[in-house]
Amino acid sequence: GETHSIAVFAGDGIGTEVMPEGLRALNAAAEAFDFTLHTTEYDYANAEYYAKHGQMMPDHWKEQIGAHDAIFFGAVGWPETVPDHVSLWGSLLQFRQHFDQYVNLRPVKLLDGIKSPLADRKPGDVDFYVVRENTEGEYSSIGGKIFEGTDRETVIQETVMTRTGVDRILKYAFELAQASGAKHLTSATKSNGIKISMPYWDERVEQMAQNYPQVTVDKFHIDILTANFVLHPDWFDVVVASNLFGDILSDLGPAVTGTIGIAPSGNINPERKFPSLFEPVHGSAPDIAGKGIANPIGQIWSAAMMLEHLGETEAAQCVQSAFETVIAQRDSSLLTPDLGGQGTTSSLGRAVAEQITAQALKLQR
Ligand code: NAD
Ligand code: IPM
Ligand code: MN
Repeated sequence: GETHSIAVFAGDGIGTEVMPEGLRALNAAAEAFDFTLHTTEYDYANAEYYAKHGQMMPDHWKEQIGAHDAIFFGAVGWPETVPDHVSLWGSLLQFRQHFDQYVNLRPVKLLDGIKSPLADRKPGDVDFYVVRENTEGEYSSIGGKIFEGTDRETVIQETVMTRTGVDRILKYAFELAQASGAKHLTSATKSNGIKISMPYWDERVEQMAQNYPQVTVDKFHIDILTANFVLHPDWFDVVVASNLFGDILSDLGPAVTGTIGIAPSGNINPERKFPSLFEPVHGSAPDIAGKGIANPIGQIWSAAMMLEHLGETEAAQCVQSAFETVIAQRDSSLLTPDLGGQGTTSSLGRAVAEQITAQALKLQR
């Protein structure tokens, strides 16, 4: 089999607890499907490194990490010791921007065995993708503060939408919709109130739609869209959104499917000029860190997305099927508290790894 070189960053808080379970699943898959993962764990992009060095990453990070095939990431942020904008703009957001990972692909799926907080929703009712623009939009460094400390103190933070940046995320989303059964795309907008950038976004959506006559397109302003995520999650198939709107929708979606602890993401550079980054949607969860009860499924599902990206399709499907099987078994002694169980991060992680091995054996028999 092939060898894939992976840069590993566990990060802070529960990042360091779910990462070993992500690696356990990857190792089980590599063994069963006969490929080699060459993983290198880096000790930076975390609060401890910042405390020692006054920055989140060494100066040569771009060359060091750029040489890998993919990045497997836990969660960064420890606001008690490092301000969040410092830790995130010093690590994760650098990766996304410098490695041009302009697609943030975030599946939202209600799984058999997980209770949705919405009454009467069953598996199959909620199954869509949030396609989030990941390099520009509201996440810009353009702006500033003037008249600081006076009563005229003024802060400006610009939103950036480039034609290239908007069109490439829309193209990715339309292609995904086109390839899907439903051939349906929803655009998140706010062109009624945000009068320069969002009408531009709508205009580019309309333009791009011309290239995809088979795709049904609708749009909602972000305010009512959040309401519809709760009231009608079955309406959605591919939802494309700007950076900030996509961020919000990709916590709300998983909440509707029971817990954000299962939600995965791929920060993808589709051209493969740079490594893509795979990480759970959730953060470092300081409120439960150190207790060993964090749900590892978001990390494990991200591992499946990474395997798919690396071309290990069979292994990816096996990992996916393994965690879906374990969750569907509803063994509350294995499941973490956010899933209603009494299990731990490692009880659930181990069960999934064993299931990967068992399912692979069955396939190969
Ligand atoms: P969070 O996602 O860390 O936690 C939100 C809530 O969800 C908490 O109650 C937490 O306990 C729960 N939760 C999260 N992941 C869980 C899991 N795997 N299992 C069970 N419960 C889980 O969001 P936050 O509290 O807003 O942020 C905490 C820190 O993480 C901040 O520093 C923030 O900037 C950072 N953050 C990092 C990332 C990332 O690295 N990609 C993403 C989001 C937040
Ligand atoms: C996410 C996170 C990040 C984001 C934060 C930690 C900067 O919330 O990956 O969703 O806003 O993109
Ligand atoms: Mn987020």
